Amino acid sequence: MRMVDCIVKKRDGQALSEEEIRQIIAGYTAGEIPDYQMAAFAMAVYFQGMTDGETAVLTDAMMRSGDRLDLSRFGKESVDKHSTGGVGDKTTLIVAPIVASLGGKVAKMTGRGLGHTGGTADKLESIPGFRISLPEEEFLRQVESIGLAVIAQSGNLTPADKKLYALRDVTGTVESMPLITASIMSKKLAAGSYNIVLDVKIGSGAFVKTLDQGRQLAQSMVAIGKHWGRNMTAVLTNMDIPLGAYIGNSLEVMEAAETLQGRGSRDLQTVCQELAARMVMACRGWSLEESRQAVEKSIEDGSAFRKFRQWIAAQGGDPLALEDYSRLPQAPVVQKVLAPCSGYLTGMDTEKIGQASMLLGAGRAQKEDAIDPAAGICLAAKTGGQVEKGQVLATFYTSEEEKLIPAESEFLKALSWGQTPPPAQPLIYGVIE
Ligand code: URA
Repeated sequence: MRMVDCIVKKRDGQALSEEEIRQIIAGYTAGEIPDYQMAAFAMAVYFQGMTDGETAVLTDAMMRSGDRLDLSRFGKESVDKHSTGGVGDKTTLIVAPIVASLGGKVAKMTGRGLGHTGGTADKLESIPGFRISLPEEEFLRQVESIGLAVIAQSGNLTPADKKLYALRDVTGTVESMPLITASIMSKKLAAGSYNIVLDVKIGSGAFVKTLDQGRQLAQSMVAIGKHWGRNMTAVLTNMDIPLGAYIGNSLEVMEAAETLQGRGSRDLQTVCQELAARMVMACRGWSLEESRQAVEKSIEDGSAFRKFRQWIAAQGGDPLALEDYSRLPQAPVVQKVLAPCSGYLTGMDTEKIGQASMLLGAGRAQKEDAIDPAAGICLAAKTGGQVEKGQVLATFYTSEEEKLIPAESEFLKALSWGQTPPPAQPLIYGVIE
């Protein structure tokens, strides 16, 4: 098999054979297929798509490209969740301790941010002392003893995805349905949990821009998970507006701590409680209503927040930083952004808001870039809000003053204005089981 022939075949819209797909993944993982050919292949897939059969083989080949975690000791109590990514998405920090406080076993591998904002690993690493890499046995022991552990996707777990996702990120090929399906599901299957809850984000700040595409992606991931014997749920959630008020790594840790104590913004609280309820329902076998009530109670009685502190401490992080936020990284430069006119905010291009936070230092423009853990944005107004000219729209946090002007310009470009309020948007579009 010559890689160039596979690229041409896919470029011309033909389906690849199982053998061809397995050889592409094996060759790329082994370093025999260079990045430039794989990038051309990813672009061909982006334009031509893949059949369900090709996607299933691609997922399987990527899952088998490295080690797989054995969570069989947790039986049907193991539960994982994955979000397809968005702006201000700190849901893992909130739902994982809720679910663990209710008896679920959350053994989660997570990624670094490759888009505009940091990933869960970057957020956790902004907590002083937090160890995002643990040896496998320590990781499993921690899940056994406290019900949760979250580590960076590391070592030899789906090395094919690690390489390919990083390549896609810098070659404009992230937003491809079969590539996203195979990327996410290969990791989820290799990470071993029996129950998997997917948070498929839809809107201007997500890979998936329309409800139709979101449904399609959710259905394709649910089908592949079921094919491999997992209990799958997908929740379709709104990412047309940033989730919560904060964007940026240590800022989102702080917001997660607030939300776990019942003080989060309503959108974040609603989405997290629904995701947590779906996870609890799957891994505890309770009804949806019982699960929702249990989730609410775990926040009210403090057990979810206690679990959060216990988890952070177990991985070497400073648990006091979850209450005394001055112990988290602090940005030396803080500036308010004021409304340029009066009216209603009728829309936010959430991807641009994410770009603005990246320009402040909260995300990576390139895969080698370092993240500024203290950088980011606090939104004082979101879509639907009425503001007066000169009112504070947002607060920017950064370490370098010269980053403020480009970030502000990107941020203001993201906003649409009108004289009447826009129609309210649902936070949760639906659930696929
Ligand atoms: N998240 C992933 O892990 N992979 C993708 O391709 C997109 C989002």
